Order: sequence, then C-alpha cells, then structure tokens
Amino acid sequence: MTSVGIDAVELWTGNLKLDLAETFAPEKGDDPEKYTKGLGLRASSFPDSYEDIVTMGANAAKRLMDRKGLEPDDIGRIDVATESSFDNSKPISTYIAGCLEQVYEGDFHHANKGERKFACIAGTQSIDDAYNWIRAGRNRGRKAIVVATDTALYERGDAGEATQGAGAVALLIDEDPDLVELTMEQGYGSADETDFLKPNQQFPSVDGKRSVQVYLARMREALEDYESVAGDVHLEDFAYAPFHTPFPGMVRKAAALAYRHVTRDTEHEEALAEEIGRQPRRESFDDDAEYEEAVREYMSALKDTDQYREWYDATVDPTLSISRDVGNWYTASVHVARIAALKYAYENDRDVTGESLLVASYGSGAQAEIHGETVQDGWHEEIAELNVDEQVAARYDLSWAEYEEVHDRHNHDMDKELEEFTTPNEEFVFDGWGRMGERKYTYVE
Ligand code: COA
Repeated sequence: MTSVGIDAVELWTGNLKLDLAETFAPEKGDDPEKYTKGLGLRASSFPDSYEDIVTMGANAAKRLMDRKGLEPDDIGRIDVATESSFDNSKPISTYIAGCLEQVYEGDFHHANKGERKFACIAGTQSIDDAYNWIRAGRNRGRKAIVVATDTALYERGDAGEATQGAGAVALLIDEDPDLVELTMEQGYGSADETDFLKPNQQFPSVDGKRSVQVYLARMREALEDYESVAGDVHLEDFAYAPFHTPFPGMVRKAAALAYRHVTRDTEHEEALAEEIGRQPRRESFDDDAEYEEAVREYMSALKDTDQYREWYDATVDPTLSISRDVGNWYTASVHVARIAALKYAYENDRDVTGESLLVASYGSGAQAEIHGETVQDGWHEEIAELNVDEQVAARYDLSWAEYEEVHDRHNHDMDKELEEFTTPNEEFVFDGWGRMGERKYTYVE
C-alpha cells in the first residue's frame, strides 16, 4: 500500500509578541504565575500591521516550496484551514496561490483549492482530504499543500485574551513522505456543542470553562473510537503525543485523562495502587457525584506521582515548548505541537525513526480526532531545516499601549491605521484594498 503522509512542514509566526508575565499580567492586576504556571504560557504572537492570515500562510508555504525545490506544477491541491477568514465566499487558498504566483514561474491554475472549516480541527481535516486524494490515485503524481493559518484574537477583556496568538503552519502531503507517515486508523468524538462559535462575527463567543470540559469529553470519545479500530493504546506505543494546544494547561488536563484511560487494568495502574489506590470504578459508587469526586481525587494524586510525571515529561511536555511562547494558533496548534516534539527529539539526539506519534486534534463545536503517525527516515534532516527559534526570538516585544493599538488594527470593525513595528524582509505583505473590497498583497525583497 502506498505510504502517504507529511513530507515537510514549515511554520511562520506573527512578527510581534506580547509578554504575558511582564506586560499582560500587571495591566490585569493578576499574578504572572496565573499565566506562566496556570495556563502555561509565556507570550503570544501577534501580526504586525502588514500581516494577516494570507501573508503568514503564504510565507510558510513559500519557505516550504523553496526548501523542497517545488514549482507550482508540482502542486495539485492547496487547502487552507482557518477560523479567521475575512471572506465568506472566496477561499483564502486563492489569495495564497495569488501571492505565490508573484514569486514563482508558472501558476496553480490546475490545482484544486478550498477552505476547510471546523474550528481548530480543520487543519487535520485538510490533511485527511489530501491523504484521501492521494490514496485514491487522483493526484496525477502531484503533491498537496495544506496551510493552517489563524489570527486568534479575542474580544478585549474576554478570559481568552491571555491565550491569543497568530501564525501559520504549511504542510506538504505526499507519497513516501520524509517526515511522518499517517496510519489508516482514526477515532472520532463529535457532538453538536456551543462552547465556542463566531456567528458571522470576528471575535468568538466563548464559554471558556465549558470549552475545557467539551474538549475533554470529545477527546475521551475519540480515544475510545480509536481503540475500537486500532486496538488498545499502551503508554509504550508512542514516543510523543501532540495534542491540540489552545494553551499548555489544557493539554495537562487532557494528558492526565488519557493516562488514566490507557493505564486502567494494566501493570501501570497496579504499580501506582500502593501509592494512590486503584482507579475509581463507576460500579462501586451509588451515585455520579460520589464517583466524580473520587475521580477528581485520583487525578489530583496521579499528577503528583513520579510514574506519571516521568511519562508526562517524556511524552507530552516536549510538545508544548513552542506553544508556550506563541499562544494559540487555532487550526495550526496541533501541528505546532508535532513540530515541537520532533524538534525536542532532534535537539536531544534522540533517534525517533520508526517510532509513533499519537496525534490528538480538537475543534470547538465540537469534534476530536485521534490518529497515529510513524516517524520516517528523513525526519532529522527536515527538522534541522526549521528556523523556529530564530523567528520566535526576532519578534518585536510590544508594550501594553502598543498591544492595544495592534488589537484595534486587526479589529475588522475599526479602520485603524498603524505604522509597522518591524521591517518586512523577504516576505509577503498586505498593502491595501482592491476595487471590489479584496485585500491586496505584494512580496517585499
Ligand atoms: N499560580 C498558578 N496557577 C494559577 C494562578 C497562580 N497565581 N492563578 C490561577 N491559576 C491556574 C488556575 O488554577 C487554573 O488552572 P486549573 O484549571 O488547572 O485549575 C488556570 O490557572 C487558569 O485559571 P482560571 O482562573 O481558570 O482562568 P480564567 O478563568 O481566566 O480562564 C480559560 C481560563 C481557559 C477559561 C480562558 O483562558 C479561556 O476562555 N480560553 C479560551 C477558550 C479555550 O482556549 N478553551 C480551551 C478548549 S479549546
């Protein structure tokens, strides 16, 4: 069977940064540790005045094409996943293709383009679409580009304001991939939920506390569904578990839930029993409230055990290192987590060739999806080419007053002009409006 997966990946962060401990917390009158420890975030990325979802996506895609020596003719499909679109009809992929056509010979006229929407899970769904297109043999030997790009802005004062972020990930989906092969099995947990939505509005209506519960509930369903097709998941099966990461504290909760689930009735549960007891079983309790209290107590004790911490530090914590400094990139977040895990392996001289990743995606509204990936021979070379640290370090550090202006600049209901804070260099920039209200872009050398 043809091996299909992610051949290469590139990332592009917004060029500005808001420091949560130094700048955000003092303005809110909060303890900085609420952000650094509680949510697990140091900073958020923001778009400069000339940046948006198109520039960030096109810049990531250009890095990808340049690095892999690709021309437009090599690409049969461009899908964009976003929940920050500014157009209800014309897909962002057309804008991105238009940008790329400014800098490459040839065009993408024979590439199928689209835009995928299902909150933060749409990036993973776009990879799926590309995978299916290739596996069905409809790709004519061509590859697909998937771009997950978002400007995750919340209403000023919303609880989600601390978790904002802006950036894009571009992924090349191809046969015989260099980075990871996707496995066939998938598990879904999907239900009609109202935890986070944008009914024709730019900033989301969010029930933050509920969204955390829905994330966990759908993730549990997806894991059970995954196990029903792939067999029981064991802790030893996976080198890393990249989760959708709206903020690292969310993943801390999801990881503990997953650990409890996969260790039930295993030697891991037995090994912990002396220290914290066995996991509560529903049938041993008279009512739900008692059972839920017992589960809470077990989870709280579990998180403090050496056994759990060792697993978490080795398998989950490495996936969070980029997210901590850039915030929530919505559709791109789980793909940032995958990059972070492989970057960690690369930097720590760990050879993960042939090992597996358990990838857990989530989108509000709500749906979780879990699948496995196998790391390929070329992963080391691919990861070596990334410049994540340089991009993150080069961001302009905003003061509070500047942050307020940047937020207004990107508020679609405001017509705010703002001088840029950084100087664009070899990248696409937004440079004004066309006659039909379309956004226009140019490439700056
Ligand atoms: N030191 C250490 N930790 C602290 C702290 C301090 N001084 N102050 C607070 N915390 C912890 C809290 O205990 C909490 O952790 P816990 O949930 O593990 O108990 C965490 O920091 C967040 O504090 P909380 O008071 O719950 O934050 P909040 O009410 O401001 O909002 C969200 C949290 C998630 C609801 C909010 O960020 C949000 O709405 N985000 C957007 C939606 C989202 O991303 N949902 C996720 C699913 S997609």
